[in-house]
Amino acid sequence: MFRNFKLVSNVIFGRGSFTQLEDILLKKHNNMPRTHVYVVDNVFQHSEFSRRIPAKKKDLLLWVNVDDEPKTVYVDSLTQAVKDWMTKEPGGLPASVIGIGGGSTMDLAKAISLMLTNPGSAADYQGWDLIQNPAVYHVAVPTLSGTGAEVSRTTVLTGPVKKLGINSDYTLFDQIVLDPDLVAGAPAWQRFYTGMDCYVHCVESLTGTYLNAFSQAYGEKAMDLCREVFLNPGPDSDDKLMMASYFGGMSIAYSQVGICHALCYGLSYVLGVHHGIGNCIVFNCLEEYYSQGVREFHEMLRKNNVELPRGLVADVDSAQMEKMIDIALTLAPLWENALGPDWQNIMTRDKIRSLYRLM
Ligand SMILES: NC(=O)c1ccc[n+]([C@@H]2O[C@H](COP(=O)([O-])OP(=O)(O)OC[C@H]3O[C@@H](n4cnc5c(N)ncnc54)[C@H](O)[C@@H]3O)[C@@H](O)[C@H]2O)c1
Ligand SMILES: [Fe+2]
Repeated sequence: MFRNFKLVSNVIFGRGSFTQLEDILLKKHNNMPRTHVYVVDNVFQHSEFSRRIPAKKKDLLLWVNVDDEPKTVYVDSLTQAVKDWMTKEPGGLPASVIGIGGGSTMDLAKAISLMLTNPGSAADYQGWDLIQNPAVYHVAVPTLSGTGAEVSRTTVLTGPVKKLGINSDYTLFDQIVLDPDLVAGAPAWQRFYTGMDCYVHCVESLTGTYLNAFSQAYGEKAMDLCREVFLNPGPDSDDKLMMASYFGGMSIAYSQVGICHALCYGLSYVLGVHHGIGNCIVFNCLEEYYSQGVREFHEMLRKNNVELPRGLVADVDSAQMEKMIDIALTLAPLWENALGPDWQNIMTRDKIRSLYRLM
């Protein structure tokens, strides 16, 4: 069976395009004054940029904290905050939920828009196609490039028992606003780690057994853009990285990620390591599987003066190690993409343990 997948329906791209957000919302809602919920990374709370957010008095502006990657309990509490606000506002559901931030904030906005129309806890929907009702219209404004969260059909959440996305056609954003100017203020190391998420998406997609011409077309372009940005940067690097993130996301949408992401999920679940840096730490140890990609990654580290933390797993006890392995092994499609149908005979618990010990 071929997957018939949904895409983000509206995209605006260009430096300064964020100023059109208000018009986009107005037009979408037939020029009627409606209320909106803005979900914004609190790193911007006291910034110059915060004044450009077109929230009106009647709208709800939720400053979110992404020190930890999104958890289902956090989604539930933010959704409740929107519901409490709704009881004071006539008219029921907000017209839109707008997420402004990196992958974590975009995922929170996706999850809130879903949980406003679906009963229970976000944890009930971690998995594939469990969502029953369409989400509130939702918009992403990325302020970091690399995760591909702006184009993916998932919101990655850590729940009480697993780290797994809410994967559904309803999860996809209805509109994305890609304004490279918004990435300019990010610290260089953060921009690098998030950008490397995209680079790893490309390597894992392009070397995987699930590869097809669709994924290859997007993956190769994204890979070229990453090379330009991280090996030969120029004044339009933020524009290029934003498109790399989009194309990298499109590439894995029709293929899959691989070993690095599977191991990174375990690392992140047990040690709370963030996705971008986690991928870098893992990828650094995967020369056996992705030799050319890892060599080029080392060149990018050098060129960008980034030094990876070491000895991360040194103090991990055996229970934590086994949990990391359990989490990594739940991600069967990732292993199958990387190693083929016989992956379980190749990637044993011992082998995974020895890889984690390198980190
Ligand atoms: N849904 C998906 O398809 C998907 C794919 C990959 C990763 N993810 C998720 O994305 C998250 C990682 O996202 P990320 O790497 O974009 O980072 P992030 O959103 O976790 O943010 C990282 C840090 O950068 C800060 N930041 C964001 N934009 C900034 C800016 N312009 N200037 C200064 N600081 C800024 C944040 O406040 C935070 O401290 C993880 O939670 C991961 O699970 C989702
Ligand atoms: Fe990723």
